[in-house]
Amino acid sequence: MNKVSEPLATGAALEAQAIGVGLPHESATLHVSGEATYTDDIAELRGTLHAALGLSRHAHARIVSLDLDAVRAAPGVVAVLTAADIPGENNCGPVLHDDPILADGLVQYLGQPVFAVIAESHDLARRAAALAKSEDVVRYELLEAVLTPREAKEKKQFVLPPLHLRRGDPDAAIAAAKHRIKGEFEVGGQEQFYLEGQVAYAIPKELDGMLVHSSTQHPSEMQHLVAHMLGWPTHNVMCECRRMGGGFGGKESQSAVFACVAALAAHKLHRPVKLRADRDDDFMITGKRHDAVYAYEAGFDDDGRLAGARVEIALRAGYSADLSGAVATRAVCHFDNAYYLSDVDIVALACKTNTQSNTAFRGFGGPQGALVMEVLLDDVAHRLKRDPLDVRRANYYGIGERDTTPYGQKVEDNVIAPLTDELVESSDYQARRAAIAAFNAKSPVLRRGIAFAPVKFGISFNVPFLNQAGALVHVYKDGSVLVNHGGTEMGQGLNTKVAQVVANALGVGLSHVRVTATDTSKVANTSATAASTGSDLNGKAAEAAALTIRARLAELAAKQLGGTADEVRFHNGVVDSNGGEMPFSQLVAAAYLARVQLWSDGFYATPKVHWDAKTLQGHPFYYFAYGAAVSEVVVDTLTGEWKLVRADLLHDAGQSINPAIDIGQVEGGFIQGMGWLTTEELWWNRDGRLMTHAPSTYKIPAVSDTPAAFNVALYRNDNVEPTVFRSKAVGEPPLLLGFSVLLAIRAAIASVAPDATDAPKLRAPATPEAILDALDGCAALLSQPAQAGEPSQPSTNDAAQPAPVN
Ligand code: MTE
Ligand code: MOS
Repeated sequence: MNKVSEPLATGAALEAQAIGVGLPHESATLHVSGEATYTDDIAELRGTLHAALGLSRHAHARIVSLDLDAVRAAPGVVAVLTAADIPGENNCGPVLHDDPILADGLVQYLGQPVFAVIAESHDLARRAAALAKSEDVVRYELLEAVLTPREAKEKKQFVLPPLHLRRGDPDAAIAAAKHRIKGEFEVGGQEQFYLEGQVAYAIPKELDGMLVHSSTQHPSEMQHLVAHMLGWPTHNVMCECRRMGGGFGGKESQSAVFACVAALAAHKLHRPVKLRADRDDDFMITGKRHDAVYAYEAGFDDDGRLAGARVEIALRAGYSADLSGAVATRAVCHFDNAYYLSDVDIVALACKTNTQSNTAFRGFGGPQGALVMEVLLDDVAHRLKRDPLDVRRANYYGIGERDTTPYGQKVEDNVIAPLTDELVESSDYQARRAAIAAFNAKSPVLRRGIAFAPVKFGISFNVPFLNQAGALVHVYKDGSVLVNHGGTEMGQGLNTKVAQVVANALGVGLSHVRVTATDTSKVANTSATAASTGSDLNGKAAEAAALTIRARLAELAAKQLGGTADEVRFHNGVVDSNGGEMPFSQLVAAAYLARVQLWSDGFYATPKVHWDAKTLQGHPFYYFAYGAAVSEVVVDTLTGEWKLVRADLLHDAGQSINPAIDIGQVEGGFIQGMGWLTTEELWWNRDGRLMTHAPSTYKIPAVSDTPAAFNVALYRNDNVEPTVFRSKAVGEPPLLLGFSVLLAIRAAIASVAPDATDAPKLRAPATPEAILDALDGCAALLSQPAQAGEPSQPSTNDAAQPAPVN
């Protein structure tokens, strides 16, 4: 077994070498005691004002008139700002310039910020901003709104040109194949639901300076956009983020409107201004995971091996481009998931709709690409009446053959087959599958289902220049160490891992290393903490900085202790060479007196990555992370309710820097993926108003949704690439393990009509309504008369029973 579940190291371990050990998160005690400082907890300066946004009432309309007198006259209001108050560019789009900070004459979704109220308190600002609902304040002339990706596709309305990747001759391959399937599928979007909502606190500084505390995954981008909005050079603005209470992609670009409005108001009024969005406003304003509508087709042989496949992925981009180009590209590059596709055609459309501008969410399009492949393979298995596990194995990438992705990158680190073998064994998949078939044969109402799903996920930003990072390490005279790097902490444990790396490089315990807030004045031009690359990039940069300091110290140690600099060893807080040793702090004190530079920067750029965005060919990923899951559910076929009873996850984090944190990422990713595909439903009404905009109507998984049996382990593996300690990124890939839950629900539903030629039509999220609809579909299949002359076959799953549907 690959269980890496050593108990959390504490006390002595914090003093010892710190790599590969399950050390607690650096802020764990602060998190649980409530002492951790989030942006809204920063002590407010005297004179601080509060902002709130007045939102559009319509999905698509021209603003005919804006009469803000009543808003200005509301209690506590100090100022009301509109697009006309912005001195520089009214844009916070990260890639294209199509994202106004405040609407200027035109609103493109219901919830778009139209004006900002600045008031004496948070509450008074919100009350005044709510006047945006009044006809007397904002008058609109309605325009036709396009609300769904289907409509946008029909109208050929896209935020970016379609992406098209083709290899071989899929049409001929499908036509010539022995079997064929064709299907449609849809998956909903997903709200990031970070527990800490969007928030920014802007403090004006002397000489046109601005300090912005922002809950953001991308401080450099916030700095840049605020400067741009104010018409300033970048160096006038500083952005700081100590930590986020979750980001999940939702604070990669979309923290911008909050940072910009707070900074605009602070600049205009020369007072500190805080903008903390209420949860409902956060839902209404910001973009989510792209929902998708798929059409697919495949041809295959008796083993289910694909000869050719086609897919069209129509993503809901929302009203502007935001990060949809990169999301769509990642969807295209993950349709293959873990499978070799010789002849394939993939189209991705970024559909322009009058809804929130969809953005990054854990997996960044990868889940949307791979999910349809898993549904497709399930359909294949169903048609052939074979175990879907066997069909998946038959299609896996090979080693040395069948190993090139549709986008031209060779898969050089493939461990999916042995990883699968291990999980199938440890989860007892085969025996449980048989037991479930026996259970279902006797259980008319409750049906069980079990499913296996693999993941292969590409690591790197697929925009090559983003794969760079910097760090700054200070060693103070007493031997204590301070690290700053360009990444941001959002709960994923990045700061802990970076501190572990630096502690290890200098041979000191973790308690001697402190990580500071992310700050654009320390490391410049950073990339977003995203694409799971945080520890790969910033860990390497910080290690480089620490190693530079260590090399300087080693020279001095060799002079004092004898031997050569290469022979000096740093470990457990001591430095030894030539048989002698001295404490690290003593060497540092001596180095200071000898005028040795005790701080250094470090830089890292990921090797090997390149990408041609025109041909969709290249080597977009430095390496791949792998994993697999087996989930078992029980579905109540009368109500559509279900429960996950057991999940077994085996995930490849390379040589884990911190197994405790990595296991936490695997568990969290899986549960979040399950939420996306089951309970989390975004629903817009006919006017384009998002009706599910609070926890009362939008259901994320709770602790009680965790399965009673939850076996999570890390697969023992080395990264073939020389990443930091040969670890692998682990932030996003486990989200795809949640596929197994949807597939298990599908299997439970399929058990009511085992002889049907086609798999049940189950949309995602698989809410009870969706499950009942799928059961209805199965009942319809069953009620068709048996073929003439053939008595209805009794089967192990007892198809003769009437399907128990609502
Ligand atoms: N884990 C927690 N606890 N909170 C988060 O917001 N974001 C995820 C993932 N895990 C997130 C998280 C996303 S979307 C990404 S891209 C990675 O963490 C980013 O961090 P990393 O690159 O350091 O793994
Ligand atoms: Mo993660 S979606 O790349 O922020």
